[in-house]
Amino acid sequence: LSNGLGMTPPMGWNSWNHFGCNIDEKMIKETADALVSTGLSKLGYEYVNIDDCWAEISRDDKGNLVPKKSTFPSGIKALADYVNKKGLKLGIYSDAGYFTCSRKMPGSLGYEEQDAKTFASWGIDYLKYDNCNNDGSKPTKRYPVMTRALMKAGRPIFFSLCEWGDMHPAEWGAPVGNSWRTTNDISDNWESMISRADQNEIYAEYARPGGWNDPDMLEVGNGGMTKDEYIVHFSLWAISKAPLLLGCDIRNMTRETMDIITNKDVIAVNQDPYGFQAKKVRMEGDQEIWSAPLSGYKIAVVLLNRGPVRYSTTARWDDIGLDPKTVVQARDLWENKTLKTTFVGNLTATLRPHSCKLYVLKPIA
Ligand code: DGJ
Repeated sequence: LSNGLGMTPPMGWNSWNHFGCNIDEKMIKETADALVSTGLSKLGYEYVNIDDCWAEISRDDKGNLVPKKSTFPSGIKALADYVNKKGLKLGIYSDAGYFTCSRKMPGSLGYEEQDAKTFASWGIDYLKYDNCNNDGSKPTKRYPVMTRALMKAGRPIFFSLCEWGDMHPAEWGAPVGNSWRTTNDISDNWESMISRADQNEIYAEYARPGGWNDPDMLEVGNGGMTKDEYIVHFSLWAISKAPLLLGCDIRNMTRETMDIITNKDVIAVNQDPYGFQAKKVRMEGDQEIWSAPLSGYKIAVVLLNRGPVRYSTTARWDDIGLDPKTVVQARDLWENKTLKTTFVGNLTATLRPHSCKLYVLKPIA
């Protein structure tokens, strides 16, 4: 969407994966505090996104959405001010239907202009727009109504389409939103995560600055996967130019979680100005190579072992768009080191089960 936003994939946090409907202004403020105190905001995590369940079930007598009195007594504007003072941005959630998925608050269908104005007046910078309880008409009819409303609202607002990929939003999303979900909801386990990466990969060629494929939010730190699996999760989201929206409790993170989500080189792959989404360039049984060109003639490569046993996997230059004779310097992003030897023609690594390597390759001769 040409609103000047999302030139690189959005980074931040969203309440849903960890908290569901169990949200309130105190927790949101504490999360904003923690994004700053942990140093995450400096790394680019800037959006604090409230998901479903923030509003009263009924609009006021003028038809305005009303923040839930019991959980957001100070209102959303006050929360946006609080978050903005910390250099962060506040995101909110609505639905292209009559009620949101929780059925605990109204949707924006028929109220698009009014709600977009409300969000802008509150100082909202990001809108996630869900697809539950709609009137049965096509999303290609309902979503652009909100796009136009946002464009008129007087404030650039990142527009995240949450249509779950059913109507292939990659194919129509670019003029409508800044990102579009390509899958239904992720859950915190290997199968769910890896299958979402797969479904999202199909649409790689549609990703570009201003409009991104969204395989759903991160589960890193929620406890359902091993460290290796979370590294695969974060690596695939990074190289796929997916939104990096943290979905854990930022106020209580382990060292391990922090180490994964703060890896600067991996974040730089995600935020590379070229914005090319990685594709699978080789699949052999449980072994896969995913790669994407980066700016500066570099290439990001994931060597992935999806299987249950250790395996030695090879990335070949002709699979990733390099002349076989090219001499390459390799940086192992999870070991945080540039390898001493250079490579010609291919690069091989031994991978534990459900694990990956993420390299940035730089041709030097
Ligand atoms: C469905 C979406 O896909 C989820 O990410 C979340 O927003 C829930 N709805 C909230 O009800």
